[in-house]
Parts: sequence; structure tokens; C-alpha cells
Amino acid sequence: MEEEGAIEKIAGPLVVADNMRGCEMYEVVKVGEEGLLGETIRLDGNLAYIQVYEDTTGLKPGEPVIRTKAPLSVELGPGILKNFYDGVQRPLEDIKAKVGDFIERGVFVESLDRAKKWNFTPTAKEGGEVVGGDILGVVPETKVIEHKIMVPPNVRGKLLELKEGEFTVNDCIARVQTDAGDVELQMMQKWPVRKGRPYKEKLDPEVPLLTGQRITDTFFPIAKGGTGAIPGGFGTGKTVMQHQLARWADARVIVYIGCGERGNEMTEVLEDFPKLIDPYSGETLMERSTLIANTSNMPVAAREASIYTGITIAEYYRDMGYDVAIQADSTSRWAEALREISGRLEEMPGEEGYPAYLATRLADFYERAGRVKTLCADSEERVGSVTVVGAVSPPGGDFSEPVTQNTLRVVGDFWALDSSLADRRHFPAISWLRSYSLYTGYLGDWFANSAAPDFMEQRDEMMGLLQKESELQEIVQLVGADALPPRERGTLEVARMIREDFLQQNAYHDIDSYCSLEKQYLMAKAILQWHDGASDAIERGIGIDKLERMKIKDAMARMKYVPNDGFREKYEEIMRDMKDEFEAIMKNAEDAP
Ligand SMILES: Nc1ncnc2c1ncn2[C@@H]1O[C@H](COP(=O)(O)OP(=O)(O)OP(=O)(O)O)[C@@H](O)[C@H]1O
Ligand SMILES: [Mg+2]
Repeated sequence: MEEEGAIEKIAGPLVVADNMRGCEMYEVVKVGEEGLLGETIRLDGNLAYIQVYEDTTGLKPGEPVIRTKAPLSVELGPGILKNFYDGVQRPLEDIKAKVGDFIERGVFVESLDRAKKWNFTPTAKEGGEVVGGDILGVVPETKVIEHKIMVPPNVRGKLLELKEGEFTVNDCIARVQTDAGDVELQMMQKWPVRKGRPYKEKLDPEVPLLTGQRITDTFFPIAKGGTGAIPGGFGTGKTVMQHQLARWADARVIVYIGCGERGNEMTEVLEDFPKLIDPYSGETLMERSTLIANTSNMPVAAREASIYTGITIAEYYRDMGYDVAIQADSTSRWAEALREISGRLEEMPGEEGYPAYLATRLADFYERAGRVKTLCADSEERVGSVTVVGAVSPPGGDFSEPVTQNTLRVVGDFWALDSSLADRRHFPAISWLRSYSLYTGYLGDWFANSAAPDFMEQRDEMMGLLQKESELQEIVQLVGADALPPRERGTLEVARMIREDFLQQNAYHDIDSYCSLEKQYLMAKAILQWHDGASDAIERGIGIDKLERMKIKDAMARMKYVPNDGFREKYEEIMRDMKDEFEAIMKNAEDAP
């Protein structure tokens, strides 16, 4: 006999059901006559509290609740990339036509296409031993990503049979003899979203995830497997930054989780994101991305689930050995969903109405990032990573609110957007004074060996100059810049160059949108070289106004628009011209009476 509960009470996305004894936490249930998808989030005697992923209007007490005895899971296999999903991995096909509509309720939609055949090429050897994580074969999932079909984490034994050819995700492609009997394997596996996928070992964050953005690579670098937050008030550039990271970061697979609030916000993402072109392949970025979208009219519970769906998919591609980057825009919307459901559960509210467990939920989510040795036979080694970047939208741009505060406690990078910079159209509006990266210590060796020995020194020098500038600005406010000694005025000038010529970077400019690490390094070198020259000149009594008017500064201001390829030649030319111009200034000064 099927175990069946009955609805006792409905409160928005929350349904309380009776006669549910024995039900597990986070078990998927079918709610009501229509069988709406739900998940138990609290158990109390016979009662189960269920968050429902579909619109609950019209549900009535007494309607049945059916247990599925399975946790909320995602389907993992070919077909995830290029796809658009809702928060519980239902494909949003033809979403553009549909935005504004609910998906029909209670309709069971498979996450992976059951009819599509994929070309499977075996790479493992029949007769050999296999363990969880071992690669059985490969499928060309998209034009740019080869999908590795892996043995599921909990399977181990002798590979009795391995097929080759065209299969659907559900067809048997291999048979394994295990202690518990023969097991048939398909290309698709399932995994519960609230549980991190296993790996062998977590590695230190010693390799940067390069982004092509000067403020993030040079000033506040993020590691592969690292975590970062982009907090910022309304319109300060969170989404543009997330798109820039998705496009340019040297990650192979992108999982973009959009949690929208405003009506058209997700429509924009669903329209804009697929238009992004992958600079590495020339194809659309979707060829190596999956997009999880929560429009504002979707039930809040689906928003709550979406970040788990996203990170589980990311871990799966990590397990294949890929570097994966997750962009979650914005985690505040997810936290608000948590708050709403907590309110419906009548839990004791914490700060600003968020549940007391907000901090642990955030920490648990970011904890699933990492660069790891993936699961596979001991004789082999495969490394993959999941890097997580979450936007945070604090109301009124006030960073003291709970979501920002609890996020900054757990992330390694804090890229603080500053609305006064955005107002002045300094983009990206990431504050160099309030932001930080906890990875610089770990990444120092990588930069020294793979970029330049003095890469970090230059960075520190520029940071120091900007800090000095902010101190000097207080004096300038009081007495004006003219009252400062020439040396300090030289500092103000080089700081301005760092801000405008280096840190400002136009996401929409064909060339400036992406800046190679070599170019970043050389641009910084040129600016610091100018500072050295100017400091010498000032020592020798040259007036600051002469230095401020130097011709070379125009060429330096245009460095960012010089293509990455061949930048070094331009740099050398600038350095030569700069030297000549300084020499001429000195000579003139000596010649003068
Ligand atoms: N790097 C950049 N280069 C050029 N322009 C930028 C850059 N970053 C942001 N902008 C400008 O700022 C505008 C707002 O950016 P964006 O939509 O990313 O803000 P947001 O913080 O996501 O806003 P919301 O709070 O509405 O979600 C963009 O439309 C663009 O004009
Ligand atoms: Mg935005």
C-alpha cells in the first residue's frame, strides 16, 4: 500500500501534511491531486512541513501527499550544457516565449532529454576494475565540451561489458560486477542536491582563476576553487561583472544561476546571456554553460533550491576534471526566499527577519567550492575545480545587513562595489579600499613563476599609492591640492593614473573588455616607471605642473586600447619615449638660468 499523507494547512509555498510519520528530511513528495513537486523541510511527529516548488493556489486541506522516498536530486549527464533550467532543474524550453507564464503545474518534466541519442565512445577497458569517478567513455556534448561519462561514486567492481555507439541517457552502456551483484550503468546519474559530491582531496588555492579584469587579476585575485562575493547597491555593476567573469575567466564550464526579483530582470538575463560570445571558441557562451533561472513569478521555494541545483551540476563537471565557475546573481534573492519560508514555518526570526541559520546555509554553500583531486582509481589523478562568485544586493547599498555580513565571513574575495564610483562612471566600480583577497598569499608563487617575479611587488606598490592618495585627500579637502608639497602632488597624480588608466576597464570595449595578464603587468610597470621618473624630477626641483603636462601621459592613458597581442612592442615604445621626455625635461631645467 502506498503511504499517503493528507494536507492539513497551506501557507503560500509551505504546506503542512499529516500522517507523514517515517518521512525523511528533504524527501521529495507529490502534493495534492495535481501532484505538485515539494520537499520536506521540517518533521514533527506525524506532521511534515513541505516547501512546494509550484504555485499552491487552489490546493485544499485533505488532498493527498505522496512520498517518493527519494531526496531532491538532479539528473547528471549529457544535455545539461546549452540548457536553461528552473530552480529544480526543469528545462525552460522556449523560455523567451514563455516568460511571464508558469510552467503547467504538476507536470513532470524530465531534466535530460530521454529521446536524444548521444554518440558514446568508450575509453575504459572491458575486464578491468573500475571505481567511482573512473571515466568509462566520452560524448561530444557540445561543440566545445567533451562530456566524460563516469562511474557513479558508489559503484566499484569489474567492468563486464562496455558498449559503443548511439545511446539515450537511459540506455545501458556498461555492466559492472559488484559485491552486490551486477549493475547496469547509464550515461545519466542522479545526485541529491543538498549533498556535496565526494572527491579524494581538497587542494590549496594556489592557481588563480584569471579573469582578464585588471582589478580582479592584479589587485584582488581569485583562486581556482575559490569563493568571491560582489556586493553592491542598485545598478552598481554586479551583473556586468558576473557576465565579464562568465565570458573571460579561464574556466571551461559556466553555471549561471539567476535569481531575479524585478519582473524583467531574468528576462534580460535569459535574453542577454545566450548572446554572449565565447572569446575562446568564437561560439556562443552557452556551448559551455548552463543557465538556471528563477523569474520573479516562480515560487520562492524553487529559488531556494536553485543554488543547490547549480552547485551540484558544477561539482559533476568538476569531477570530469574541468574548471567550473558558478555565478550566482543574486544570492540576496536566495536569502530572501529562505527568510520567507522560515517566516511561514514560524521560526524565531534572527537579524532583519532572516533565520538564525542563514550564516550556516551561506557557509555550507560556499564550502562546496574548491579545487580537488577528483574521485577516480588510485593509480590515476585528475584535478578539477568549482569557483563560486555570488553577487549580493544589500538594500540601499548598506553592507552592514546580514546577507553581506555573513557572506564576507566565508568568502575569500570581497569585491565591494561602491555607488559613488558607479555614479562617477568609474567601472568596474570595485572599491580598491574596501575590497580584499585572502588568496594573495597562496597565489604569490604562481604569479612570481608564471607572470613575473615582481608581479606582486608592483601590485603592492600600486595599492600603497592608492592608500596614500586616500589619506592625502583628507588634507586636500581642507587646504586644497596646491598646498601640498610637490612629492605628495606627484603621488596624487600617479594615483589618478592608476585609477583611470589601469583600474577603469570598459566591459563594452572590444579590446579593453579583456586584458591579458602580461598586458596588466606591463601597464602597471609603465605607470610605476612614470612615478619613479617623476619622483626623481621632483627631487631635482622640477615643477609638478611640468610633469603633469607630459606628452607621454596621453599614450599611457590609451594603453588599455592597445590589443593584447603585440602589446609589448607598444610598451617598449612608451618606455623609450618616456625616458626621452624625462631627460629632455631635466636637461631643460639644467639649461635654464
Ligand atoms: N565594467 C563596466 N564597463 C562599462 N559599464 C559598466 C561596467 N559595469 C557596469 N557598467 C554600467 O553600469 C550599468 C549597471 O550595471 P549592472 O546592471 O551590472 O548593475 P547591477 O548592480 O547588476 O544592478 P541591479 O542592482 O539592478 O541588479 C550597466 O548597464 C553599465 O552601463
Ligand atoms: Mg543585476
